[in-house]
Amino acid sequence: MCGIFGYIGTEKAAPFLLEGLRTLEYRGYDSAGIFVHGHGVIKAAGPISSLEAKLPKDIQGTAGIAHTRWATHGAPSEKNAHPHHDMSGRIWLVHNGIIENYRELKEGLAVQGITFYSETDTEVLVKLIGSFYKGDLLEATRLALRAVRGTYGLAVVSEHEPNKIIVARMGSPIVLGLGKEGNFIASDPSALLVHTKRVVYLDDGEIASVSKDSFEVTTIRGEKKTKKSEIVEWEHEAVQKNGFAHFMLKEMFEAPEVVLNTLRGRLNVEEGTAKLGGLEMVEERIKHIQRLHIIGCGSAYYAGEVGRYMLEEYAHIPVEVELGSEYRYKKTYPDKKAAALFVSQSGETADTRASVEKAKSMQMLTLGMVNVVGSAIAREVDAGIYNHAGPEVAVASTKAYISQLTAFALMALYLGRQRGMSKAEGLDIVKALQSLPETMRAVLKKNDEIAKVAKKYAQYRDFMYIGRTFHSPIAYEGALKLKEVSYIHAEAYAGGELKHGPIAMLDKDFPVLAIVPQNDVYEKMISNIEEVRARLAPVVALATEGDLQISAVADDVIYMPKVHPLLQPIVAVLPLQLFAYHVGVAKGLNVDRPRNLAKSVTVE
Ligand code: M6R
Repeated sequence: MCGIFGYIGTEKAAPFLLEGLRTLEYRGYDSAGIFVHGHGVIKAAGPISSLEAKLPKDIQGTAGIAHTRWATHGAPSEKNAHPHHDMSGRIWLVHNGIIENYRELKEGLAVQGITFYSETDTEVLVKLIGSFYKGDLLEATRLALRAVRGTYGLAVVSEHEPNKIIVARMGSPIVLGLGKEGNFIASDPSALLVHTKRVVYLDDGEIASVSKDSFEVTTIRGEKKTKKSEIVEWEHEAVQKNGFAHFMLKEMFEAPEVVLNTLRGRLNVEEGTAKLGGLEMVEERIKHIQRLHIIGCGSAYYAGEVGRYMLEEYAHIPVEVELGSEYRYKKTYPDKKAAALFVSQSGETADTRASVEKAKSMQMLTLGMVNVVGSAIAREVDAGIYNHAGPEVAVASTKAYISQLTAFALMALYLGRQRGMSKAEGLDIVKALQSLPETMRAVLKKNDEIAKVAKKYAQYRDFMYIGRTFHSPIAYEGALKLKEVSYIHAEAYAGGELKHGPIAMLDKDFPVLAIVPQNDVYEKMISNIEEVRARLAPVVALATEGDLQISAVADDVIYMPKVHPLLQPIVAVLPLQLFAYHVGVAKGLNVDRPRNLAKSVTVE
């Protein structure tokens, strides 16, 4: 949700700023802007390419800040684009987050005669900093931030002090990159990889003064902090398209490797169990947990729903799955026998983060399932599992979702073996997991076939997805993917629910995608499909290879390999992701950057 990039060093800043913005564009693409010392500011509405078209070739300055915006306050226009400036026009700020008390602050500033040119909360913040400025930008920023309620990741510069960039964090990520040609700042380490892998993550309440060869971190109250740098494991290549038409396609094609990386070093083939190093330090507590809450937003929530089926069936542990945006406000009770597991690709989602606080205050053990190493949630929970899916750039989550389901299968095995699963059953699952990358490869071979089916259905206005048990959340995830990248109205229901209302909508113009693997609810799903056909709705079935019955009831069939029932949802979701992608492409849409969305939702 908004991307920030900054550089201060010995090289020309503008090319670095532009490149940083391009990598961060998935965080927002409503408008963009840069400020370079010695040159000034340039802004443009629309994507980074519009900004690029406006940039002169010869910008000389060696320090600057940049921003790509996902609009919260004010329309996505050039006027509202960042950087914003104070009354003197010499202090410039880029900001990711929301200043909740901006109206109150604005009124106070207006009384002092300060005027405003935009509708943004960010302009209020920079004017506040300007109002405190007496030659020391760090101190003025500290004073301003003490008066602020809300969230921010920010970078601020003053033309009076060109040798420093001040950055601060509260709720929205800021990471420093320590490079040879100077120092960098970014909302996400992926934007730093081309320059350096040595990074320093700021924590909430911290503020840093960054110069070309050093940095100093304090709190907004002025206490000194000692920060250690860390090495990011991701490769720069991972944030390139590498010949694929879109990041989304590339990321789906990474599924076999992602599964392999999620499993790497985590299968115990002798004992038929999983080894989850990140949970070892809380192993004894986990053994005595009687209930598990799984919390996430969007796709991460649907991954949690699949996790619930896996854990209840194979580890016999009662699970409740909650949306982060609801859990944080929900009435809960102190419960030392419960653990709360937070699922988040980015590790920055504001509602999921707020729920961590809530679970902690209820004395629960807090666990994370996070992809971005060093992200806020990863650092705030007691223990956890990293996904190791690599950076996910496309706004619609695909490979991270597959990795989350794989990690849930590992958890089901690990907790299952602790709670009575036989060694023989454990060994079966280990074997199935070992062949999962190959199975995902087999699914990808069907890409062209799936594209053909997708093309046939791309012109419909509505879609219904249905599935049962483990595949009911997969139906929701499939529908979410279609909505995100094709803007087709897509609903999802557990198959058995259709006749309780939604079937009223179905007719020849409302196709149904039925997930119908050969499992213990197969016959029930066939009955649901018959009910749908009776209303003339076209049916696309996602069925098991070798199913001879299905083509008699479905208009189109996408076949998937049969695997161990625990892993079937992992195999089922990939064709649905590919289907959504090809529908979006057939409609000529920007599937990597769907309208109105941003990848990392750091506002509440
Ligand atoms: O980074 P997180 O996993 O916490 O993000 C949660 C959701 O915002 C995310 O899954 C969103 O729904 C994606 N756009 C789904 O494709």
